[in-house]
Amino acid sequence: MAEATTGEPMSIDYSERIPNNVDLAQDPALQRALEHWQPNYIDWWREMGPVASSNYEVYLRTAVGVDAHGWAHFDFVRMPEYRWGIFLSPRVEGRTVNFGAHKGEPAWQDVPGEHRANLRRIIVTQGDTEPASVEQQRHLGAVAPSLYDLRNLFQVNVEEGRHLWAMVYLLHKYFGRDGREEAGALLERRSGDRNNPRILGAFNEATPDWLAYFMFTYFTDRDGKFQLNALAESGFDPLARTTRFMLMEEAHHMFVGEAGVARVIQRTCEVMNQLKSDDPVQLRAAGVIDLPTIQRYLNFHCSVTIDLFGADESSNAATFFNAGLKGRFEESKRDDDHLLRDRVYSVLAVHDGALGEREVPMLNALNEVLRDDFVRDSIGGVGRWNKVIERAGLPQRLHTPHKAFNRRIGSLASVRVDPDGRILGETEWSERQYEWLPSAGDRAFVAALMGRIAAPGQYANWIATLNTCDSTECR
Ligand SMILES: [Fe+2]
Ligand SMILES: [Fe+2]
Repeated sequence: MAEATTGEPMSIDYSERIPNNVDLAQDPALQRALEHWQPNYIDWWREMGPVASSNYEVYLRTAVGVDAHGWAHFDFVRMPEYRWGIFLSPRVEGRTVNFGAHKGEPAWQDVPGEHRANLRRIIVTQGDTEPASVEQQRHLGAVAPSLYDLRNLFQVNVEEGRHLWAMVYLLHKYFGRDGREEAGALLERRSGDRNNPRILGAFNEATPDWLAYFMFTYFTDRDGKFQLNALAESGFDPLARTTRFMLMEEAHHMFVGEAGVARVIQRTCEVMNQLKSDDPVQLRAAGVIDLPTIQRYLNFHCSVTIDLFGADESSNAATFFNAGLKGRFEESKRDDDHLLRDRVYSVLAVHDGALGEREVPMLNALNEVLRDDFVRDSIGGVGRWNKVIERAGLPQRLHTPHKAFNRRIGSLASVRVDPDGRILGETEWSERQYEWLPSAGDRAFVAALMGRIAAPGQYANWIATLNTCDSTECR
């Protein structure tokens, strides 16, 4: 694919009320619509954004351009004054639709009429996750384990806010009145609200403590990476360009998760070696999080995130692909016909009470294809966490749970499965589920460790400092 770009502006105009690189001033109606949405967004941020943070100056990264060098600029800023805006990656000259029935046609600069409803649904679903995660994490600043971690949290929060802006721009610019209504509704749903919840399950779960937060950014922001990569392949060029820019920020979110969990593990291992014990009771008494509890958090966050990819067989997934709206992870790098009409894919299925594989048309299994790519990617970090334990000279290891464990979506939701993939009866599941998932007691213990450490260079006892963490992710 040609990497040549058009002559569109690369730098971001911060003299505008809404910083942007999309020539917003040339489209007064759109500018007015977004300037009307902007105060509602700020109201939402003040109501649902990080708690007690509005007078707190944080050292934050702000995008000042979308090229490789200009996109990250650091400065102190009060969060409500953060310059959220609209940034698209540069347009690639001659870009074509790379998959599905429209393969080879020029990429669309406007919404094709027949795909309008599906595209809007894709954009709204992605957009809804962004404010949801800010809502889920809003209490964590009050109990940050260090200033360094606090800064990372707020960095992630403001970028999720900007990701909402990215989707709202598309809704306003390309979807007329129903787009504006959807943009309004994105500020009205609330994570975990019984009456008006966020769209997807994992985004209605609580993120009550920092271990949950690190697991969330490791697993659930990685779902973001895979969804955004699939959308970055879209034949609808503005969606592809905006998601490509979002992906640069997503990498940092996953880093926060991976390095955070690595530091929790490192600290636990230090105390295990000091006490010469792996007894959770003794370790908890010493104020660190025992490895079995870390494993249960891992199982929980991995399994609820796996559900985000949707049903294992989905005619919507086939439609989105055929229509050129949503590709596979790294679609353009794959070496096949990108039509997939005669291809099959094997999915896990329940048959006579046992798990087995079943071949289905690949087009209908594209959620599963993306989920399997995600699972492969997730395993890597778990391996790096195990290296931290290994370097501490300890024999314990963490494991990624079986894909069928704790599922609520798709055909696997009909069975109880342990983390090794063994099918269980309802009785065994209810007796043993808290061997595998965090219990109320686990969560209460972790919650009791939380407390704000705001002095530079100080760290909570349950997490390794940056200097002592020997995970490659910490460097
Ligand atoms: Fe995001
Ligand atoms: Fe993210």
